[in-house]
Amino acid sequence: MISFTTVNDLSAYIREIKPTKTIGFVPTMGALHQGHISLIEQSKKICDITVCSIFVNPTQFNNASDLENYPRLIENDLKLLLENGCDVLFLPSVEQMYPNGLQKNEEDYGQVLKLFEGLHRPGHFDGVITVVARLFDIVKPHKSFFGQKDYQQCIVVAELIKRKFPEIELHICPIQRETSGLAMSSRNLRLNETQKADALLIYKALEHIKTGFGQKDLPRLIDEAKEIITSSGLLTIEYLDVANAINLEPIENSNTKAVALAAVHCGPVRLIDNILLD
Ligand code: PAF
Repeated sequence: MISFTTVNDLSAYIREIKPTKTIGFVPTMGALHQGHISLIEQSKKICDITVCSIFVNPTQFNNASDLENYPRLIENDLKLLLENGCDVLFLPSVEQMYPNGLQKNEEDYGQVLKLFEGLHRPGHFDGVITVVARLFDIVKPHKSFFGQKDYQQCIVVAELIKRKFPEIELHICPIQRETSGLAMSSRNLRLNETQKADALLIYKALEHIKTGFGQKDLPRLIDEAKEIITSSGLLTIEYLDVANAINLEPIENSNTKAVALAAVHCGPVRLIDNILLD
C-alpha cells in the first residue's frame, strides 16, 4: 500500500495512473470496521486501484465533544487496510484539506438537508458536501463507494455527483451488521457491553416496521417500534420514522418505495440505522 499525506503527491500519482487504471474511492473517517472493509472489497472487485482516505472532517461535526470523542485508531486502521489489500491510503491534515480555513458548502441542496439528520445535526451535510467534493477533486475516482448505513448521506452525495461530478459512479453498499443485528459503526467502539446489548433493539424495531409495513396502520406500527426501543431504559429516540426512500419526504401510501430511519441515543453515543421497506 502506498500512503500519501499531501494533495500534491497524491495528485501527481493520480495523474500518472488515471489514463490506464480504473480508480475506486472509499472515503472514511477511520476507526475502520467490516462496514468499511466491505466497501474496499467491492471497490477491489470492480476497480484496478482502490484509494481509501482517512480524515476526521471537522466541518461535519455540529458538536465539539462528538468531534473530540470520535475514535482515532490509525495503527489498527493501517493493519486492516494492509490485510484487505487497499492499494492507496490518503491521510491528509486539516491544512491540506482546508488550505483556506474551515469553510463549508453554502449552496442550497433543497429539502433533503432539512429532514432527519439535516434537521437534528444542523450544518452536518454542508460539511459532508464540502469534504466529499474536495476529496473527489483530489482523488478524481471513476467509482466511489458509500455505505447504506448513512442513508441520507448517500442521497446527498448522489445530488453532489449529479451537480458537480457526473463522471463519478456512485456505489451504495449494504449495511454490515454484527450477528446481533446491530449496524456496524465506528461509534459502537464507545458502547460498553450493556449498551451494546440494548442497542440491538434499534434493529429489532426497524425489522418490526418492515414486517408490518403495508399490513398495519403506519402510525401504530411506528409507535410499536418506538416501544421496542424504549423498553430499554438506556435508549432515547431522536427520531424513528418512515419516509419516501428517494427524497425522504413523508410517504403518500404503502406503494411508495419507503425506508425506515432511526437515530437513537445510547448513553453518550448517538447511533443511526435504517432499513428499506420493499
Ligand atoms: O461517512 C463518513 O465516514 C463521512 O461522512 C465521509 C463520507 C468520509 C465524509 O467525511
